[in-house]
Amino acid sequence: MQKYIETNRQRFINELLDWLRIPSISADMNYKNDVRKAGEFVKNKLIEAGADKVELCETAGNPIVYAEKIIDPKLPTVLVYGHYDVQPPDPLELWTSPPFEPVIKDEKIYARGACDDKGQAYMHVKAFETMMKTNSLLCNVKFMIEGEEEIGSNNLGIFVKANKERLKADVILISDTSILANDTPSIDCGLRGLSYIEVEVTGPNRDLHSGVYGGAVANPINVLCEMIASLKDENLHITIPHFYDDVVDLSTEERAEMNLAPFDLEFYKKDLGIDDIRGEKDYTTIERTGIRPTLDVNGMWGGYIGEGAKTVLPSKAFAKISMRLVPNQSSDKITSLFQKHFESIAPKGVKVTVRPHHGGEPAVTPTDTIAYKAASNAMQETFGKKPIPTRGGGSIPIVAMFEKELGLKTILMGFGLDSDSIHSPNEHYGLFNYFKGIETIPIFFRNYADMSK
Ligand code: BES
Ligand code: MN
Ligand code: MN
Repeated sequence: MQKYIETNRQRFINELLDWLRIPSISADMNYKNDVRKAGEFVKNKLIEAGADKVELCETAGNPIVYAEKIIDPKLPTVLVYGHYDVQPPDPLELWTSPPFEPVIKDEKIYARGACDDKGQAYMHVKAFETMMKTNSLLCNVKFMIEGEEEIGSNNLGIFVKANKERLKADVILISDTSILANDTPSIDCGLRGLSYIEVEVTGPNRDLHSGVYGGAVANPINVLCEMIASLKDENLHITIPHFYDDVVDLSTEERAEMNLAPFDLEFYKKDLGIDDIRGEKDYTTIERTGIRPTLDVNGMWGGYIGEGAKTVLPSKAFAKISMRLVPNQSSDKITSLFQKHFESIAPKGVKVTVRPHHGGEPAVTPTDTIAYKAASNAMQETFGKKPIPTRGGGSIPIVAMFEKELGLKTILMGFGLDSDSIHSPNEHYGLFNYFKGIETIPIFFRNYADMSK
């Protein structure tokens, strides 16, 4: 197997680069055709690799690529999930090379989607090809690669509900998370949920002269800033009533164990160009991103933002706000708590509208299963070190959905690094990580087949 991977190394890279050239930005309707092309690309690669029943399944949005290889119905089945859509590359001027013209620098592939998630999803396609061509596929496999993860996976939810029989499996395997470092493997055992909201504050019925009216009429941008600032207290604790009611507090022992994971504060600060960290009082960085909920403004606009100065008191102000949720919080409940609270703190003189966007539920994945052991042992074999169970800060809403609809647990065997700049300019993915994934995945399959006997 190792020999097959080595012989085909350059082709495995080139194919990924071809896939990365397709700008499959799901958030932007102008790229609808490219998103489909990216789906067709991976569909064809799955056919070439030897999968059966390969299909581009239409949805109300972007198509879902489905494929399977059933070698023996009596053997266990692994359902591999990934996504071929990517985040918008903005701000473009901060990229050192164009986001959809991948280049390899310092043994890393630079492109939007290089890590999240084309690079990681493609490891599974090449691992599958490797197992097929070397006659070493030891369990059944199904693939489901979607094109709407970055916009909330709404149509995937519908697809899963409608295709329960076809998606029958024993475990779900996803590579869309990160490891602690290339010499410190880890497996994410939890993901945060998400509530995403857009707010609009309206003041006067038109933009006004800021000298003629300034000081006498509520300025929606000022008001919005005050309202947002009031959502956290001096300890950076969120002030929305009942926000923390359902949060599961970890025991002192669990927290201590979690904090054993290596964390290099100096590297963290240096990588981000910050002189200090900032977060909720009495929690460590690992806890702040792993087991605590958050509230962040993702974007804010209004008034005049063109060149030069324009003296204007704006009529409207907007913000996009996300809250990351932890077990046992519910996205719908938090969204409505936010809405009620935000409307209640609006001062007289402005109107506030709260519009909920997509959401997603948090998930925890168990470490006492055969599948976890199979993954842990596989990583131990390829990295030479036992992976540390961690809690990831990001969200993959479909994981909770898989559990609810299919009754299946997920293994989050990701190979990215937090410093890969996913969603940021200059996203990249190490060749080391790409090939580590391609090597480790077949060992997971072998272990899982062995241990299920
Ligand atoms: N792959 C990420 C999630 C992720 C990244 C989890 C790193 C753990 C570590 C995924 O593509 C993503 O970006 N998800 C979105 C959620 C979605 C509803 C827009 C997110 O977390 O913002
Ligand atoms: Mn992803
Ligand atoms: Mn993403």
